[in-house]
Amino acid sequence: MHKILIIHGPNLNLLGEREPDIYGRLTLDDVNQRITELAAEKKIKIKIIQSNHEGRLIDFLHENRKWADGIVINPGAFTHYSYALRDAITGIQLPAVEVHLSDIYKREDFRKISVTKEVCIQQISGKGLNSYIEGLQYLLNYLNGNV
Ligand code: DQA
Repeated sequence: MHKILIIHGPNLNLLGEREPDIYGRLTLDDVNQRITELAAEKKIKIKIIQSNHEGRLIDFLHENRKWADGIVINPGAFTHYSYALRDAITGIQLPAVEVHLSDIYKREDFRKISVTKEVCIQQISGKGLNSYIEGLQYLLNYLNGNV
């Protein structure tokens, strides 16, 4: 049974009310509920965290590095500048898929740079909730040797 960390970075707790024209009307609870349903269908275990604090996300990765087989992460704005988070992903040597609700390549220039992408096995951007769903499916295929 695969064990996956689902990580939501800063400001994603405000999903549903935060810039809904960009991020949609689903709340973080809605997103987590759909992910939890998919996890049940696929018979995998998940642990979910949202934090607005870089260090908390890094601690969570460290704490779960022996438990988990892989990671689905939306690093939020940390995507664009957090070398500390990037180092944590590299350091724990688990496959990670980076996901974004919005299409970061069709927004401000600073969002086009991801410092975490290079240490992830895949990046999925611009598909709303489906970015998480496709990201989790991609990770499971990878873990099952189907990628
Ligand atoms: C985001 C895109 C980031 O640029 C932004 O800072 C976020 C959310 C997304 O899911 O589209 O907080 O990661």
